Amino acid sequence: MKQYLTIDEWSIIEESFDPQTQEISESVFSLGNGFMGGRANFEEQYSGSSLQGSYMAGVYYPDKTRVGWWKNGYPEYFAKVLNSTNWIGINIDIEGIPLDLAKCTVSDFRRVLNMKEGTLSRCFTATLEDGKEVKVESIRFVSMTRQEIGAIRYSIIPVNFSGKITITPYLDGDVKNKDSNYDEKFWNEVEKQAGTEGGHLTLKTKKLDFHVTSAMAFDILVNGEKVNADAEAIEQEKYVASKMNVSVQSGDQIVVYKYVANVTSRNHGLGQLVDAAQTALQAAKEAGFVTLLTEQIEAWREKWKESDIIIEGDVSAQQAIRFNIFQLNQTYNGEDDRLNIGPKGFTGEKYGGSTYWDTEAYCVPFYLSTADSSIARNLLIYRYKHLEKAKENARKLGFAKGALYPMVTMNGEECHNEWEITFEEIHRNGAIAYAIYNYVNYTGDKAYLGQYGLEVLVEISRFWEERVHYANRKDKYVMLGVTGPNEYENNVNNNWYTNRMASWTMEYTLEALDYLKKNESTRYAELVDKLGLQESETAKWNDIIAKIYYPADEELGIFLQQDGFLDKEIIQVKDLAAENLPLNQKWSWDRILRSCFIKQADVLQGLYFLGDRYDLDTKKRNFDFYEPITVHESSLSPCIHSILASELGYKDKAYEMYLRTSRLDLDNYNNDTEDGLHSTSMAGTWMSIVHGFGGLRVHDGRLTLSPSNPGHWTAYSFKIMFRGSRLKVSVSDAQVTVTNETDIPASITIYDKEYTVNGLSSITADSNSITV
Ligand code: BGC
Repeated sequence: MKQYLTIDEWSIIEESFDPQTQEISESVFSLGNGFMGGRANFEEQYSGSSLQGSYMAGVYYPDKTRVGWWKNGYPEYFAKVLNSTNWIGINIDIEGIPLDLAKCTVSDFRRVLNMKEGTLSRCFTATLEDGKEVKVESIRFVSMTRQEIGAIRYSIIPVNFSGKITITPYLDGDVKNKDSNYDEKFWNEVEKQAGTEGGHLTLKTKKLDFHVTSAMAFDILVNGEKVNADAEAIEQEKYVASKMNVSVQSGDQIVVYKYVANVTSRNHGLGQLVDAAQTALQAAKEAGFVTLLTEQIEAWREKWKESDIIIEGDVSAQQAIRFNIFQLNQTYNGEDDRLNIGPKGFTGEKYGGSTYWDTEAYCVPFYLSTADSSIARNLLIYRYKHLEKAKENARKLGFAKGALYPMVTMNGEECHNEWEITFEEIHRNGAIAYAIYNYVNYTGDKAYLGQYGLEVLVEISRFWEERVHYANRKDKYVMLGVTGPNEYENNVNNNWYTNRMASWTMEYTLEALDYLKKNESTRYAELVDKLGLQESETAKWNDIIAKIYYPADEELGIFLQQDGFLDKEIIQVKDLAAENLPLNQKWSWDRILRSCFIKQADVLQGLYFLGDRYDLDTKKRNFDFYEPITVHESSLSPCIHSILASELGYKDKAYEMYLRTSRLDLDNYNNDTEDGLHSTSMAGTWMSIVHGFGGLRVHDGRLTLSPSNPGHWTAYSFKIMFRGSRLKVSVSDAQVTVTNETDIPASITIYDKEYTVNGLSSITADSNSITV
């Protein structure tokens, strides 16, 4: 763990340049707008280690599967979000010597991610090999209001010389994914044009025919005056550039404004890409940098209005939570129901950038509370649209009916290829059903069930029905050969979490059917017909619900992670010598699998999801048993533990786990930030505050809060949207105040007392009710 970033409430700041941390910073300082984004690479050439990364949402490549031993049922490919045209590039040569921070002396370096305004800026002084010194300042952003536009202002001042500076803005499509399975490049060139004032480049993917056009335009000013330097247009394979020589006196300031439009065939017809890019580009250029920046600041002001969390008395925690919220809002904006949230967002390539259960289990709650409900709904519809593919996937694995959603996907097809995950980590189906419940419970939008939800629930229930089987000896339904959320055990029998979520899905499906039968009888009849739903099926689900096997240990009063769990040698993490950790880097896989050590919440994940069905004592016994043997080697782990610890009144543990999740990337806890940020676990950090310290739950359509102060902060507040109203919940040691920022009244319960918060007014809960 290396802390090198300055603590600040609204910004992430790096105060000096260290090539050793460059790739970490490239991840941390990433920019995105839900449509496109990229790592914080330098505009000018850089020959040190770097992962050049620029990504367009939904533009992916089916990279042929690479495995040692092929197994029937494996997907043919692994979908990768494509590293696409590098559009930020502006090369600088100073009298023939490239400005390259890996090759010169760098001083006064400062890089700032301004989270309030959505910009990335950098300044430094560079002394080249021949002693020439330049001062550089740059600022760029990916527009939140014009999704296809990025803009850069890049300024250079020659400090101690007069002479020629060569400036080369370019678009470079000759890029490669770092994680390409066969070291292949995925793009072909379609067309290009380089001119003296800009240029464009169209590439298409070698498979699937995604086209992306990038178009650039620029202005160059010296001391505020536009210059018309003679430009040389350069065209190379998958590359266009314009090279200009500018003569300057020492102390002059050259400013380059570079505007870029990136458009894709996902949103425009193939023949219209260049026009679409040029139209967006010209509009942006005419608006000018200052107007674009003002729009950006305004858009972020609106975002923060909905989702800010304020922590008083702890700047480090404040910075961390804003960083998480900022990155989530950069990753997904919910405007396009074909898109989803990759575990690394636009910040890196690991995990292929596809959809995991992370979305339903971790991200949906964030978007439910911090954005219009249509956004979480779009995440659900994304899965609805993949239902046919999920059914095909189940058939492919030999199931006669039902749907098995993929563990990893881009278009609904499974593209993960480790058997213990692809075939066995089927609990993902439960999270997808749970998200439907979560959405309906939170928003009250029961119409969703008839429109989309029920079909998904029925097909998932059918899958569970077939996946369990009746074991005579036990007189119970069992589920064999699964991997639970804890990937440090594979092919186990009766993973409590999976069995529990399976039977819960069937219960909820029956409840949804019942609701529709009573309230939307026509739609109910239509759906029964469309689904061919038989009474024998619902009878079977009832039987499974009544007789499913839940492994438990009476003596310890806990649910068992799986049948054989207590046969393991139980050792607590605190009793392991530090050199063993992290296990996934220090131990053989075989040793990990046989050990009792848990990667991430498993039984506890179930107790979090189904929290209203278990009493505090049950949660406590399970937490006390499982948390001490959990190594939290998934970024998704600490947040669930923090939430449960808050509920149980384990303040220190809750805070310890909160710190671990919130500064995971800023402090590079898992030593892997250079691969990209843990975007999906950032939603878990948000949950640690709002569901954990804030105690937010929704019961029977009623918002309930039971806030506590983790003890390290003077006060904190968070915003939540609930059924039309936007509430600001402020918690101090002495009181809880809820302010309704809209004119829609909200009914809420704080601890056990009911309140109505009228529009544009506040209520304060009794101070003596702050317990824990
Ligand atoms: C976790 C999974 C998760 C995946 C992507 C893995 O390390 O164990 O639960 O879906 O990362 O975030």
